[in-house]
Amino acid sequence: MHSDIQDVLISTEDIQAKCRELGAQLTDEYEGKFPLAVGVLKGALPFMSDLLRNIHTHLEMDFMDISSYGNEMRSSGEVKIEKDLDTKVEGRDILIVEDIIDSGLTLSYLMDLFKYRKANSIKLVTLLDKPEGRTVDIKADMAGFEVPNEFVVGYGLDYQERYRNLSYIGILKPEVYGGNDES
Ligand code: PRP
Ligand code: MN
Ligand code: MG
Repeated sequence: MHSDIQDVLISTEDIQAKCRELGAQLTDEYEGKFPLAVGVLKGALPFMSDLLRNIHTHLEMDFMDISSYGNEMRSSGEVKIEKDLDTKVEGRDILIVEDIIDSGLTLSYLMDLFKYRKANSIKLVTLLDKPEGRTVDIKADMAGFEVPNEFVVGYGLDYQERYRNLSYIGILKPEVYGGNDES
């Protein structure tokens, strides 16, 4: 375990098992279809990579970069497209892949965007769901694990761009981000 981590919340093995389980469900749901999997950079990258290797249908992948946090601990309430898709959305079955749903702002923005672009269907799969963080009323179609309202990092989730490369989800030691700073 990394020395900045207080506890492992979800182990490498549990994450991998969940990717197999969600992948099997999505294989059934998209059988005979050609979904467009949309990864939300950068946090979704490890989950996207492990999940998609467990979906056994044809699929296309593309990426978007949307920001709502910057380097802040809390969401600013602002959502901005940093990088758009290369692929046309109209008529496609969209699978949004996220690492975490917190306030719900990122997801709610993407749902509206893909509806506006006339997707045939939109489904959201997230590895983590933090229901206590919600400021907009939105729900993932599929969520791997529910997490408490703590500062979690690893497996894509960062604190100031660090810890994304951990293979597990951990709780960061408060002294690493300055104790109980409420800003
Ligand atoms: C994080 C996370 C989700 C989003 C969830 O991304 O990866 O994409 O915030 O928060 P929300 O539900 O409150 O919108 P971030 O914007 O920090 O970018 P990153 O993935 O590059 O870290
Ligand atoms: Mn993200
Ligand atoms: Mg981030």
